[in-house]
Amino acid sequence: MVSPLNFVSLLVLVNSACFVDSQLAQKESPIINTKLDKRKKILTWNSRRNVTQQECIIDIPFEDPIRPTVEVSDDNSYACTFVNHLVHRGANLTVNVTADGQVYQEFLTIPNPGKEGSGGTNLSCLIYNIRFMNCSWMPGPAAPADVSYHLYMWASLHGNVSECSWYILDSTGTRVGCHFENLDEPHNTDNYFFLLNGTSNETAIQFLDSIPFVGKDIEKYNPPANVSVTYNVSYYIIRWDNPKIRFHLSHHILCYEVDVQRKGSVSKGEPVFQRGEDENKYLLPGATVTGEHTLRVRVRHAYGTMWSDWSAACSFGFPEKDFGRFLVILVGLLVGAVALFSMGLMFLCKR
Ligand SMILES: *[C@@H]1O[C@H](CO)[C@@H](O)[C@H](O)[C@H]1NC(C)=O
Ligand SMILES: *[C@@H]1O[C@H](CO)[C@@H](O)[C@H](O)[C@H]1NC(C)=O
Ligand SMILES: *[C@@H]1O[C@H](CO)[C@@H](O)[C@H](O)[C@H]1NC(C)=O
Ligand SMILES: *[C@@H]1O[C@H](CO)[C@@H](O)[C@H](O)[C@H]1NC(C)=O
Ligand SMILES: *[C@@H]1O[C@H](CO)[C@@H](O)[C@H](O)[C@H]1NC(C)=O
Ligand SMILES: *[C@@H]1O[C@H](CO)[C@@H](O)[C@H](O)[C@H]1NC(C)=O
Ligand SMILES: *[C@@H]1O[C@H](CO)[C@@H](O)[C@H](O)[C@H]1NC(C)=O
Ligand SMILES: *[C@@H]1O[C@H](CO)[C@@H](O)[C@H](O)[C@H]1NC(C)=O
Ligand SMILES: *[C@@H]1O[C@H](CO)[C@@H](O)[C@H](O)[C@H]1NC(C)=O
Ligand SMILES: *[C@@H]1O[C@H](CO)[C@@H](O)[C@H](O)[C@H]1NC(C)=O
Repeated sequence: MVSPLNFVSLLVLVNSACFVDSQLAQKESPIINTKLDKRKKILTWNSRRNVTQQECIIDIPFEDPIRPTVEVSDDNSYACTFVNHLVHRGANLTVNVTADGQVYQEFLTIPNPGKEGSGGTNLSCLIYNIRFMNCSWMPGPAAPADVSYHLYMWASLHGNVSECSWYILDSTGTRVGCHFENLDEPHNTDNYFFLLNGTSNETAIQFLDSIPFVGKDIEKYNPPANVSVTYNVSYYIIRWDNPKIRFHLSHHILCYEVDVQRKGSVSKGEPVFQRGEDENKYLLPGATVTGEHTLRVRVRHAYGTMWSDWSAACSFGFPEKDFGRFLVILVGLLVGAVALFSMGLMFLCKR
């Protein structure tokens, strides 16, 4: 039988349960419309009440939690971008907001399903010839034999995504690279974004993401053009033109390596490094050049590491200089012969 005391406590319990329920109903999470664009790495949400604090936390294996700044728009919409972080090992995302003194959270995950080690690795790209780009990668160590990789590129955070249309295959027919023709009009702030995923009939293939490649940093310049050597008795004057490059950079930020070697010599000539000028010139005292020499020049960004190919080698020294010497000897011989002849004549005439 229920005692009056027990009945009262039951009432209280029911009451407080109702009270808690109604409080919960009032305080449902203000976070709505949570959307995650895994490819662009943008997390967005809306708030249906005023919040006093909002935070977005990204947990990536083996890394400290990342807390990107949350962009707040007037219409209570929020965005959190993490383009500079790699998520191909998977990631957990937490949205953490405070409203009416209470903390609300929402969890999302970025999984990378598929066989461990099946995704491509070592993605790298370079721009060349002003408007071409080549990318390459290595098949994952555990990739199935029938793997077919797909590379997607977009040229700005909100740009259109396009799949590679010209894959480069290795000897077994696996896609290991991509050639892009006719990149869009260049801007010095250009970044290139990539996603490499894949398909196979054996297993799901893991994706590989990359941090944005900075256009200016991945350009391989064309070799210096119009390399020429002239000789003016005191100097060999080496000249060349700055290469045409994709981005608007001062010529003074270019760094040239001038390589002059004596043909057949075992000792290597020291390389000469020189910053770009509007008119590039390097003087070699004529007296230091004996015998035939070869010349080539290459170029890179002063703070970069990627050299252009060498310009086509050209020869100088031997033929020109020797011809000069030959002329001197010839003239000497002629003068001598004339002198002898006239002396002979004189001798004859005196007779
Ligand atoms: C939300 O904040 C705005 C501006 O701070 C204020 O005008 C509005 O009354 C607040 N709304 C609520 C429901 O508290
Ligand atoms: C992500 O969440 C899952 C499930 O809660 C957990 O097992 C995993 O360790 C988390 N990963 C990271 C990087 O925090
Ligand atoms: C969420 O925010 C509250 C209040 O700022 C904080 O105490 C809590 O640690 C945060 N949670 C995470 C997962 O950062
Ligand atoms: C490929 O990348 C891994 C790490 O992602 C690195 O350890 C390895 O040296 C790279 N291999 C080549 C050939 O660049
Ligand atoms: C880029 O790829 C194309 C197509 O395979 C190839 O012909 C070209 O030599 C490559 N260029 C560079 C600079 O890697
Ligand atoms: C994306 O594609 C659409 C339709 O093809 C086009 O209208 C738009 O200008 C493109 N946007 C960019 C940034 O290229
Ligand atoms: C690969 O990524 C692209 C671009 O995000 C997507 O459209 C496609 O469905 C993905 N393919 C697979 C097999 O996940
Ligand atoms: C998977 O098998 C189908 C049918 O045999 C074939 O058309 C397709 O190309 C295969 N896909 C891959 C990635 O090998
Ligand atoms: C090389 O010289 C020619 C003729 O003077 C000129 O038209 C061309 O633009 C030069 N090349 C470069 C890359 O400056
Ligand atoms: C050769 O050229 C150098 C550099 O232009 C100049 O200083 C020098 O006077 C020239 N010598 C002769 C003999 O013209």
